Amino acid sequence: MKVAVLGAAGGIGQALSLLLKTQLPAGSALALYDVAPVVPGVAVDLSHIPTDVKVSGHGKDDLADALQGANIVLIPAGVPRKPGMDRSDLFNINAGIVKNLIEAIADNCPDACIGIITNPVNTTVAIAAETLKAKGVYNKNKLFGVTTLDVIRAETFVAEAKGLNVASVHVPVIGGHSGTTILPLLSQVEGVEFSDEEVASLTHRIQNAGTEVVEAKAGGGSATLSMGQAAARFCLSLVAAMRGDNVVEYTYVQVDSDDAVFFAHPVRLGANGVEEILPYGKLSAYEQKAKEDMLGGLRGDIQMGVDFVNG
Ligand SMILES: NC(=O)c1ccc[n+]([C@@H]2O[C@H](COP(=O)([O-])OP(=O)(O)OC[C@H]3O[C@@H](n4cnc5c(N)ncnc54)[C@H](O)[C@@H]3O)[C@@H](O)[C@H]2O)c1
Repeated sequence: MKVAVLGAAGGIGQALSLLLKTQLPAGSALALYDVAPVVPGVAVDLSHIPTDVKVSGHGKDDLADALQGANIVLIPAGVPRKPGMDRSDLFNINAGIVKNLIEAIADNCPDACIGIITNPVNTTVAIAAETLKAKGVYNKNKLFGVTTLDVIRAETFVAEAKGLNVASVHVPVIGGHSGTTILPLLSQVEGVEFSDEEVASLTHRIQNAGTEVVEAKAGGGSATLSMGQAAARFCLSLVAAMRGDNVVEYTYVQVDSDDAVFFAHPVRLGANGVEEILPYGKLSAYEQKAKEDMLGGLRGDIQMGVDFVNG
């Protein structure tokens, strides 16, 4: 198993790479790519951790080497938010970065599963899909927007609010990955009842959790450590699924529904990426209205990505 991390010297990239170095199965390879000159040093640093995962560092002219033979490529490359910024404010810089990296993936490892972390995820996943289509190698089963952070935040906040053991709390989160497009399905949390006020305040907190971190970091970036953990969980689930385990994760994928072209669903993962897109079940009246209210925005985000690539 070879995993490549593009943007590996950044806040997310380093946390993610550390977790993968310690948790990927024995015999795996971990390729770290970044345009920042520190990336070979990050690789040397990680290589001193005694696990059977071979780490390599790749600087800006060495992207093809990082990608060759990769089974999974994770992309946290790009700029993060500062206070006052919305995820869509990152579009101008990050759209081009994602497009270029995806072109290199198409050229070097077109069969790899790709996990996009770079914001705005609602749009960058559409950019990736259109770029892969233009290269003639798009496989909708192998392209994922990583929304796992919304799930782990929702689980943490619900467990805190209700005094539960977080290990036994499971919260579905569907939709997209920004503001009101993030839709936690609190009505489906097993064995827990919420008042209308709790639903409104928890939903708001889950949707704005990224901004909580951006403001607390006061100009120093956005979530990196919790995102590293979330992306590692997603990647390790994909690795387990590729090796035959039955794994379901919530992730932003191309769907065949009236909601939007891309929508986070529960997805059964398998050897070839998406094995089956599972239904998200019955929504409460509150969730149904929240979904209807946000669909226009989500579709617009997706269209922006399509237009970026196709002019
Ligand atoms: N999906 C999510 O839930 C989620 C959560 C938090 C942050 N993010 C996003 O992840 C991205 C990265 O955040 P961060 O905090 O790690 O930022 P960061 O600035 O710490 O790191 C980004 C890294 O990307 C590298 N980079 C820039 N252009 C590159 C290119 N063309 N090729 C390779 N590497 C390149 C930079 O050198 C840097 O090392 C941001 O877009 C942020 O908004 C997503």
